[in-house]
Amino acid sequence: MRAGRFITFEGPEGGGKTTQAKRLLTRLRDAGRDVLYTREPGGTPTGEAIREILQHDKAGEPLCDQTEVFLFAASRAQLVRRVILPALERGTVVVCDRFADSTTAYQGYGRGFSVEQMLAINAFAIDGAEPDVTLLLDLPIRMGFERVEGRQRQLFEDVDRIEREAREFHERVRNGYLELATRWPTRFRTIDATRTPDEVEQTVWEIVQGVLA
Ligand SMILES: Nc1ncnc2c1ncn2[C@@H]1O[C@H](COP(=O)(O)OP(=O)(O)O)[C@@H](O)[C@H]1O
Ligand SMILES: [Mg+2]
Repeated sequence: MRAGRFITFEGPEGGGKTTQAKRLLTRLRDAGRDVLYTREPGGTPTGEAIREILQHDKAGEPLCDQTEVFLFAASRAQLVRRVILPALERGTVVVCDRFADSTTAYQGYGRGFSVEQMLAINAFAIDGAEPDVTLLLDLPIRMGFERVEGRQRQLFEDVDRIEREAREFHERVRNGYLELATRWPTRFRTIDATRTPDEVEQTVWEIVQGVLA
């Protein structure tokens, strides 16, 4: 049994993952817990270098979809061994803003790679470092985008082919997450993220208290 606890936030854009992760960190600190916040990709020098490639086109050529899967996995493998597992051994509560399930949801369900292959790549990368609990902040795609950017509203009112593709991609991601939650009902907790930040925070805190007990 680990001394610490490993908590991940997952879900579509604009669900409030970053907002709630920060609120949870504050609550945990106030409760006297040792806490660590990590993000993906990144969190280690190697991971940050990979992040540059993924986000800023550092290599100067378009990334193949398959390459992207391995870069995310490589960053994750490094983060797990160098940061997450040592922290859990020290008794720290580790809060990760997206983790392996994001690959399954976005590259598997979203892009259409084999979900089973994504699960196998994740399993190799994390080698048993499963989260104790995964908080899935679920909400309609339209609402998430409205939160992130008010003008996205237009995107869904006046839909052309490409925009519909974008929306359908995100719908597949959302439904993929819900399917993962059904597949691993003990690890996943699906949270209604359409409510106010305070209401969501309260639900998160109740779940986490159960996990810490
Ligand atoms: N429950 C909520 N209700 C309304 N707005 C929210 C809520 N939670 C977060 N927001 C706002 O929505 C935007 C996206 O939140 P964020 O935490 O960045 O989501 P994510 O990290 O899941 O993409 C931010 O501007 C944030 O302030
Ligand atoms: Mg975020």
